[in-house]
Amino acid sequence: MNFRAPRGTHDILPKESGQWQFVEQKFSELCRRFSYQEIRTPVFEQTELFARGVGDGTDIVQKEMYNFEDKAGRAMTLRPEGTAGVVRSYIEHGLASEPSPIKLFYNITAFRYEKMQKGRYREFRQLGCECFGSKSASADAELITLLWLFFSELRMKDIHLEVNSIGCPLCRPAYKEALTEYLRPHLSKLCEDCRRRFATNPLRVLDCKEESCRKIAQDAPKSLEHLCPECLAHWEGLLSLLDTFAIPYNINPKIVRGLDYYSKTVFEFISENVGTQGTICGGGRYDGLVEELGGPATPGVGFALGVERLLLELEAQGFSFPEPVDPTIFIASFPEQRLLANQLAFSLRKEGLHAEVDICERSFKAQMKHANRIKAKYLLVLGDEEAKQMCGRIKRMADGAEKELSFSELASFLVNFEE
Ligand code: HAM
Repeated sequence: MNFRAPRGTHDILPKESGQWQFVEQKFSELCRRFSYQEIRTPVFEQTELFARGVGDGTDIVQKEMYNFEDKAGRAMTLRPEGTAGVVRSYIEHGLASEPSPIKLFYNITAFRYEKMQKGRYREFRQLGCECFGSKSASADAELITLLWLFFSELRMKDIHLEVNSIGCPLCRPAYKEALTEYLRPHLSKLCEDCRRRFATNPLRVLDCKEESCRKIAQDAPKSLEHLCPECLAHWEGLLSLLDTFAIPYNINPKIVRGLDYYSKTVFEFISENVGTQGTICGGGRYDGLVEELGGPATPGVGFALGVERLLLELEAQGFSFPEPVDPTIFIASFPEQRLLANQLAFSLRKEGLHAEVDICERSFKAQMKHANRIKAKYLLVLGDEEAKQMCGRIKRMADGAEKELSFSELASFLVNFEE
């Protein structure tokens, strides 16, 4: 029987993992600059958390979750996103009683049973941030500047920020009403999904990709025209901060997001290149979520970016990732000196050096071939004489230059050649 990775999942092979590490490190380094600290939460949570958090009526909860019953009969779900779990943890561990803001970042695997496409998978990775305890537009703007810096430092082109405000529980009902009235005469022309959304969450009709729905959404009333004074002040505050930071944006009334917890700000970073899956990052404010999940009323704002989509985009733009670092030294030996070669490699590694040695019992000739293949910068050959004297000639592979060194001097000499 031939086993294959499950549909919608993919292995990250050694030749790709360096790219992953590069963007993950870049992201955590940037989070550090903004005082975001890492949080790690479980891969699975109670199903109810996502039903309540993400929203019963959403596509994610209705169609896409990996649900299972554990051996004790509890309903569990592989997390389809990171926010609900982080909020659960924030409440459970009393982080609300610590001084605000609480700024958290994460690097997670998420699971959604979606139709496979380029950039859309059933297991995918997200880098995300959540900020709790500030209702100010400064918190929204700070997260956007973090993302902006991240994309700029990766020299990404053709990516734009789309922003909108979908109001709050005070002003959204009237907007929903206006939208429903607008959509009602067009109901028969909406796609099947949108006919369902019409009853559960009519805002989602606005971001449907179906041509017939897009046409109808074109002239729909806009949430921005229905904001209450508080939401309007927050919205204007955000735009003026983005202007101050010279971060370009498009106001896009069709950005409504596919999760129920949002209020006020919603935003996406969209690229034109990643097939049809151009949304690299999405986020927004969720001032009611902590309370909804059983915690004290606490404002929150965050985002998550899809790492697969980000890497597809970087690849399309010809980004040159740092190459893997080659070993500094390969220690070749004849059979009698194999143990010494291994000991010497171990002692260099203890000094923090990248040293390689044969562990496959290769012939001497095969070891030399291997040293070339792995592009070791230096070569040391151990024979009887070297073992007796505890010193040897190391050869610089690039130009063949040789240097006689005692084994005790080796580490301090090589340290200068580590990258
Ligand atoms: P989301 O828009 O559902 O938001 O996902 C965020 C990002 O994850 C998307 O923009 C996309 O890049 C990536 N993504 C989503 N689904 C897939 C998939 N099936 N395959 C590959 N990549 C995917 C959230 O998850 C919210 N929790 C974001 C957030 C955090 N809002 C506030 N805080």
